[in-house]
Amino acid sequence: MSAMPRPVPRPGVLDIDAYVPGKSAAPGVAKVFKLSSNETPLGPSPKAIAAYKAVAEHLQDYPDGSASALREAIGRAFGLDPARIVCGSGSDELLNLIADAYLREGDEAIHTTHGFLVYPIATLGSGAKPVVALETNYTADVDAILALVTPRTKVVFLANPNNPTGTYVPFDEIKRLHRALPGDVLLVLDAAYAEYVRRNDYESGIELVATSDNVVMCRTFSKIHGLAALRLGWLYGPAHVVDALNRIRGPFNVNAPAIAAGVAAIEDTAHVETSVAHNTRWLAWLTEEIGRLGLKVTPSVANFVLIHFPTTKGRTAKEADAFLTARGLVLRQVGAYKLPDALRMSVGTEEANRLVVAALAEFMGKNLGKSV
Ligand SMILES: Cc1ncc(COP(=O)(O)O)c(C=O)c1O
Repeated sequence: MSAMPRPVPRPGVLDIDAYVPGKSAAPGVAKVFKLSSNETPLGPSPKAIAAYKAVAEHLQDYPDGSASALREAIGRAFGLDPARIVCGSGSDELLNLIADAYLREGDEAIHTTHGFLVYPIATLGSGAKPVVALETNYTADVDAILALVTPRTKVVFLANPNNPTGTYVPFDEIKRLHRALPGDVLLVLDAAYAEYVRRNDYESGIELVATSDNVVMCRTFSKIHGLAALRLGWLYGPAHVVDALNRIRGPFNVNAPAIAAGVAAIEDTAHVETSVAHNTRWLAWLTEEIGRLGLKVTPSVANFVLIHFPTTKGRTAKEADAFLTARGLVLRQVGAYKLPDALRMSVGTEEANRLVVAALAEFMGKNLGKSV
């Protein structure tokens, strides 16, 4: 066949390893506990579900393209100017919009070794080059990031806390990073798990955005608010960045049920508090109990734990994954995050958490004894 010309994607696109979402099925098992995508075990606020359902009566109408009600509700909840908020179809979309607006061929965007996979995907998708800063103890290292900054650097993506490690960078360190970055580098603080963090030295990024011209903070409704299915995220940034993103985003990028449910979710602070309390309790329990089995757990401040397995045959992460999946306990393999010997487990219901610990004890050949 003669070589006919055909459309060619921009450089970088075909270098992308497409994002692989967490598994949700365990074939042949009646009851499945999905602990693979950091979803909340408590579900969304009942008020958000009611608001979502009410929109069913109006599906013929386009949504409000500026998501005003939602930006105002977020503004009220956090004391922010709604004009400096952009909503997106998940924070994934916002990360891609940032890459679209600020990266092109020849540019570089820095992320860390075990950083969220969307960063290199969005970077390559815009034709730019992802540059990987080494982490120390599974934690982003400010000096390692700064050492990689060149005139080509245009964006630094940092998840804080990070997924899939669960570690965080204290605010003093974030400020040090920001101070040392050139003014034309956009620092993207991805605070998808901010609500879960119980540490005095943590700040999601609001203060830094408010006081600088080159920082944005991304947040999501997929985790603590339990609205992952609706795809809803938001970003707080300087007016000039908000202006650029508003020019390139889809005119109706956030759908009407998501806007309605998002408003109800952010206003239901009692539900958020219950979800945080559940997480705080079971995160500590899981860390302790899994550690007692002789498995290393990276200290996490988010709603998941990273469990490290030995490389000994019969005890590997891959074998553990198969063992757990056969029992309906679906965790996340994190080989794509350069962590082939680990599994990530989202904090689940009490039932799911206890089942995982019991199954891991069996897998490790331990007699669990009493654990309350
Ligand atoms: C660090 C981080 N950022 C962003 C996201 C994407 O969230 P969303 O569902 O809002 O696209 C995730 C989801 O796993 C995440 O872990």
